[in-house]
Amino acid sequence: MLLWCTPLLLIWIIPSRAASFCTKSDQCPIGDNLGPPPAIAEARYDHTRIYQVELSNQTHVELFQKLEEASDSCSFMGHARAVGQKLTIMVTSHKVADFDDLLHSYNVSHRILNYNFQELIDENYRDVAPESSGPEQLNWKQYFPLESIYKWMEMLAQQRPEVVTMLDMGTSTQGLPIRGVRIAFGRENVTSVFVESGIHAREWIAPATATYIIDQLLNSPDPRVQEMARSHNWLIFPSVNPDGYRYTFKGDRMWRKNRALFGICRGVDLNRNFPFHWNVTGASGDPCRYDYSGPSAGSEVETQRIIKFLEDNTQTHRIRTFIALHSYSQLIMFPYGHSPKRVENYADLKAIGQLAAQRIKDLSGRIYKSGSIYETIYPSSGGSKDWAHGHLQIPITFSYELRGPPDSEQLFILSAKEIEPAASEAFASLQTIVEEAGKRGYYQLI
Ligand SMILES: *[C@@H]1O[C@H](CO)[C@@H](O)[C@H](O)[C@H]1NC(C)=O
Ligand SMILES: *[C@@H]1O[C@H](CO)[C@@H](O)[C@H](O)[C@H]1NC(C)=O
Ligand SMILES: *[C@@H]1O[C@H](CO)[C@@H](O)[C@H](O)[C@H]1NC(C)=O
Ligand SMILES: *[C@@H]1O[C@H](CO)[C@@H](O)[C@H](O)[C@H]1NC(C)=O
Ligand SMILES: [Zn+2]
Repeated sequence: MLLWCTPLLLIWIIPSRAASFCTKSDQCPIGDNLGPPPAIAEARYDHTRIYQVELSNQTHVELFQKLEEASDSCSFMGHARAVGQKLTIMVTSHKVADFDDLLHSYNVSHRILNYNFQELIDENYRDVAPESSGPEQLNWKQYFPLESIYKWMEMLAQQRPEVVTMLDMGTSTQGLPIRGVRIAFGRENVTSVFVESGIHAREWIAPATATYIIDQLLNSPDPRVQEMARSHNWLIFPSVNPDGYRYTFKGDRMWRKNRALFGICRGVDLNRNFPFHWNVTGASGDPCRYDYSGPSAGSEVETQRIIKFLEDNTQTHRIRTFIALHSYSQLIMFPYGHSPKRVENYADLKAIGQLAAQRIKDLSGRIYKSGSIYETIYPSSGGSKDWAHGHLQIPITFSYELRGPPDSEQLFILSAKEIEPAASEAFASLQTIVEEAGKRGYYQLI
């Protein structure tokens, strides 16, 4: 009896609130005084497995090409292309039996890298700093959401206005700002280094490394780092795909693309969208695929922001170095990705890349490979560095695949314990790139 009465009583006692109690027939507008919006659904990867398969003959290559075409329960990291290739595939729980059966039916040699991907994701989310943490608490033992990174950069700009300036490329598809910093110690006639990070949302180590670079440039006690910091200006954008990055915190940890809507699926792979030999290879025309190149070259808001920023600033700020941060696979790559054709300064980039990889080996023992994108990872077109080098003619152009190794069991879900070592080895090798390019005369002003 009491149970039945209570709601009626409540409405009767506080009649002024009655209007905000909506029923289905009321047709209240969503979000109108209904309190906090409902939590959005979160993707789960319980008992999702990660397989690494080896394609030992053409039958295997074709088998996995067909499988990728047919099944969206299997997410491929890369495409089946060549005999001898190792391919990493994420298989959702309800397809595990079928997939395993397929491997045995065709005698595909394989390893299971992970049996329950969600455990890794849960652990990774536990290593995210709370949203309430203040900007002075940013560190490299936890991951940070976009707002925290932006507040931290603002704090730096306030603390050291003579050195740090906030930059803003404009807003993303969903209206978030794409913000970065300029670090300049006031030396005249120096060239600039541009750092693009986080174009692929799930590669969390990239924004974390970008903030590490900013911190080192400003605060390193090492005289050699200080000299490098001062002999260039730095334009650093930790997350050029803020919609995607945000979605990896509240939505799907494995999201890669931007969040533009195309029919039943969302997202363009921004690193396939740049207008230089666009869509010629290694990209998909299907908005439901992870490497969708978009409806046309440079179609995406975020791509346009990056293009405009670089077109406006490459001459005036003398940008001679372009660095893009990605994960994983431990590679230091240079253009091109769209073709095996060698860039005009291939020999220099190859030599510099090898020295950068050696620096990492000396420092941490980690093995990074270096080479052109086309020859080290896989052919792909519409990438930002092909455009930066081929169109804008920025001579020193590298893109990193940071930790873990190519056969990583964690894929993009790098443990927070590895942020600091991953970022510091990347920073050391960036130092090598800049110093070596300097020795080779790339930063001389004519
Ligand atoms: C399966 O592959 C292994 C080596 O890859 C080979 O030794 C074996 O004979 C194959 N078995 C069948 C049934 O094809
Ligand atoms: C492909 O390789 C597997 C494993 O080595 C082997 O069992 C199978 O017979 C091969 N198929 C063809 C058509 O060569
Ligand atoms: C910078 O370049 C300008 C124009 O070439 C020149 O006049 C000036 O002396 C240079 N400053 C320094 C510190 O080298
Ligand atoms: C991009 O390339 C893919 C694969 O070749 C093709 O299916 C698609 O139609 C292309 N997109 C456009 C807009 O031409
Ligand atoms: Zn990437």
